[in-house]
Amino acid sequence: MSLAHITITKPDDWHVHLRDGEMLKAVLPYTARRFARAMVMPNLKPPVVTTAQAKVYRDEILSALPKGMSFEPLMAAYLTDDIDPCDLERGFNDKVFAAAKLYPVHATTNSESGVTQIKSMRLVFEKMQRIGMPLLIHGEMGDPSIDIFDRESAFVDRVLVGLRRDYPALKIVLEHITTRQAADYVADEGRGGKLAATITAHHLLINRNSMLAGGMKPHNYCLPVAKREVHRQALIRAAVSGGGMFFLGTDSAPHPRTAKECACGCAGIFTACNALEIYAQVFSEAGALDQLERFTSLNGPAFYGLSANKDKITLERGQDCISSDLASVIVGQQEIIPFKSPINLFWRVVDQ
Ligand code: DOR
Ligand code: ZN
Repeated sequence: MSLAHITITKPDDWHVHLRDGEMLKAVLPYTARRFARAMVMPNLKPPVVTTAQAKVYRDEILSALPKGMSFEPLMAAYLTDDIDPCDLERGFNDKVFAAAKLYPVHATTNSESGVTQIKSMRLVFEKMQRIGMPLLIHGEMGDPSIDIFDRESAFVDRVLVGLRRDYPALKIVLEHITTRQAADYVADEGRGGKLAATITAHHLLINRNSMLAGGMKPHNYCLPVAKREVHRQALIRAAVSGGGMFFLGTDSAPHPRTAKECACGCAGIFTACNALEIYAQVFSEAGALDQLERFTSLNGPAFYGLSANKDKITLERGQDCISSDLASVIVGQQEIIPFKSPINLFWRVVDQ
């Protein structure tokens, strides 16, 4: 029985890892069912650096799409120290690249080819600013001497403030924010329409205890790592605020179970199968369902200068909770463990 329902413009996922090969085929339907478009992260091995590589990857995604499903992948270029700014510009003008992603070297999974000196990217950032190409940032210091829980706030203070000063017209998205400092900074600085942030579903539900207390939970480990409860509360306030500078980006990041449950487990949480349901639950519990559509479906396209989707999607709140133990996704001999929501989820997507 449906206790409540809400019909909203079909959402977009502004930050997702779809991977490639068999993993792509296995995870793509979960994203395509819920999202009309997604900004596809380029941290493959090797990374998606050139326009030619992005075209090949986009074709691979489109051919992995099950028949009858429609979905538009938006490609991000992986910035390296020696990226070719002319190829980047061509790729953007030809509508192959929708944005470029900055990974500080060693900041996260597959960031070995990331940028070593952000200051030396001046020509690239100036060009991006001039042509209106958005810069997406993994906002953590890659410096191993900085405490892992401080890497995001240090990035805001030491790098982002300077970038905003040096490139005031460059569109920047601070991806998957996890701290009150980042949320406050973006709420303030984002009013001019040049700075925004994505917020994941899992960071709205877990804090660092969820990862470390009562035994280590590798499936709650991602980067940036979940922080203290006060930060989670700040993220919820930012998401439900209705502010146009905050929008949905799941950072769904599948890894094989064996790569998560081992002595040096990978960062990444697979949420493509329940992120939208989690956002609905969080907004509903915050008494802010009226703001859900702005966050999931309107703020993102407005920031990127795109139209909102024409299709709609309906979510309903049932009486019975969706099992928090969703079935593993099987990829060959491997399995991917979906994010286990720590709260009961009552919202579900109604099939169209
Ligand atoms: O947890 C994460 N996983 N954070 C990232 O930045 C990368 C991602 C991945 O690719 O697995
Ligand atoms: Zn990511």
